[in-house]
Amino acid sequence: MTYRIAPSILSADFARLGQEVREVIAAGSDWIHFDVMDNHYVPNLTFGPMICSALKPHAKTAQGLAVPIDVHLMVQPVDALAAAFAEAGADLISFHPDASGHVHRSVQAIKARGCQAGLVFNPAQSLEVLDWVIEDIDLVLIMSVNPGFGGQSFIDSALRKIEDARRRITASGKDIRLEVDGGIKVDNIRRVADAGADTFVAGSAIFGASDYKGVINAMRQALGA
Ligand code: DX5
Ligand code: ZN
Repeated sequence: MTYRIAPSILSADFARLGQEVREVIAAGSDWIHFDVMDNHYVPNLTFGPMICSALKPHAKTAQGLAVPIDVHLMVQPVDALAAAFAEAGADLISFHPDASGHVHRSVQAIKARGCQAGLVFNPAQSLEVLDWVIEDIDLVLIMSVNPGFGGQSFIDSALRKIEDARRRITASGKDIRLEVDGGIKVDNIRRVADAGADTFVAGSAIFGASDYKGVINAMRQALGA
């Protein structure tokens, strides 16, 4: 199983975001997770597509390889901002199905711009919509906290939902990433992987530490990677 660590810049130093992105990539992260909040769908406001454009040149390894920008839209409506982030260089764009009036159309619009498309499920949100769109998406993102803030505690019921999502992905026969977002730490990441996740968002666990590489290595060690 290929595991991916996706640090969320929500917990980075917003006065030095470019530097932070370069440092966390040098520390071994696989994706950079952008938590976009609109103070409408969630009670917080973070940043727009301009930050994505500004950070895109920094999302590269020392060898110049592009590091995927994984945009998590906690916004309503979805479509205009999804298009703007596609323009700004997002590689993956995920949205909450309950924030779009036309989920299938929103997925198609993201893919039409050459981005990978994902759906994000809040703690009380069922996976039912996957019955009708799982063939069309590249990523399922399970929220293990309520969206809006970093530094919250992991909600254990997410483990059952991760198992269900893994079953659905296996049944689809498609190569779909199963990402989990919220409260991921060195001491619980193995449990989340055992439930079926392969990609892990971590904000405060990484950016709250002085040694980014040490934390990412400890996460990979816990994963047995
Ligand atoms: C919630 C955010 C957080 C963030 C991760 O809306 O999406 O889940 O990415 O934050 P930590 O890792 O600090 O829980
Ligand atoms: Zn997120």
